[in-house]
Amino acid sequence: MVEVPVYRPFLHGNEEKYVLECLRSTWISSKGSFIAQFERSFQEYVGTPFASSVNNGTVALHLALVALGIQPGDQVLVPSLTYVACINAICYVGAEPVLVDSLPNTWQMDPVDAANKITAKTRAILAVHLYGHPCDIVQLKVLADQYGIFLIEDCAEALGAQVGSTHVGNFGHVATYSFFGNKTITTGEGGMVVVQDPSLHERIQILKNQGNAPNRAYWHSMIGFNYRMTNIAAAIGLAQIEQVALILEKKRNLAERYRKLLQNLPLSVHEELSGYHHSYWMVSVILDRSEDRDLLRQHLLSCGIETRPFFFPLQHLPMYCHLQKCPVAEDISARGLNLPSFPDLTDKELVFICDQIRYYYRTHSSCLDAADTPAVLPTFI
Ligand SMILES: Cc1ncc(COP(=O)(O)O)c(C=O)c1O
Repeated sequence: MVEVPVYRPFLHGNEEKYVLECLRSTWISSKGSFIAQFERSFQEYVGTPFASSVNNGTVALHLALVALGIQPGDQVLVPSLTYVACINAICYVGAEPVLVDSLPNTWQMDPVDAANKITAKTRAILAVHLYGHPCDIVQLKVLADQYGIFLIEDCAEALGAQVGSTHVGNFGHVATYSFFGNKTITTGEGGMVVVQDPSLHERIQILKNQGNAPNRAYWHSMIGFNYRMTNIAAAIGLAQIEQVALILEKKRNLAERYRKLLQNLPLSVHEELSGYHHSYWMVSVILDRSEDRDLLRQHLLSCGIETRPFFFPLQHLPMYCHLQKCPVAEDISARGLNLPSFPDLTDKELVFICDQIRYYYRTHSSCLDAADTPAVLPTFI
């Protein structure tokens, strides 16, 4: 039985109050005051001029690609090591995904490999800030500007991450977010598309609302979608963004604690490069030996601790197995693990998790000093 899950949303603010307001006022669908309030608060927090709420992070990516006019015949660069929604969205618009390998230190998209893969058909780079650390978005922007192609930032896992003092999401032509239940802030299911350009924002607003022109009811000027967020979801989102600083602080503290307690083990906690601010969406570790990954997960699960393996490299999935090999992404994927990372994780639970990891290594590896590790299976009281 799972006693310590990987994630649990932090719902200690005005969520219940605002949702009750929706129910009592009957504004439960995709009209209502919480939608604009959430969008405004979100754009203020991230520091972008325009934000459009949508009903999940996958449609946010789809909408971004449609709004930029990406179409069949175009190529889009995307990291091999990311969630499947990124590449699926490229395929939804009929474009060709081109996989880019990872950097070994940050695990993010490698700008040099990206540069090598640009062709006359490349129309966009879909950059992802994986597991909360910003990717090398400055270098990717240089590349996009140099070739006159679009830069899309997928910030689903990186709300709160910054390059210098600038929040991610402000570097590309479009940036997308997810508010799934395990994300830094959640609306149950939900997402956001942010842009710098007013005409692109207007296009996104029309596309997400069935292609309906702004001031003319039932005049559908383009083929659009129903990608609207509900007022109930936005009510939860508003309550969540009110607490974002607290949530991020708790996550950072968890990461620091894990880093300290997991010292001298044959693994490393995701590094934070100087000049970058990691949001620690998931506290992620990479083991020295891939053979340990699934055995360690099994051991932790037998103690009631849930973990997540890293994403498979996209070229390992059946529908994408014809795509480019990316050896660094393959290596990171085989050795990576996300640890329980929810803001309410107690220190006692965290110590228990780290003791169990130490115990695993003591019983499975000769590289540990016995004095440093629990000799008997730690129990959680
Ligand atoms: C990097 C990335 N992009 C996109 C998504 C898709 O978001 P959603 O699950 O809200 O559709 C996720 C979700 O986990 C993600 O991690």
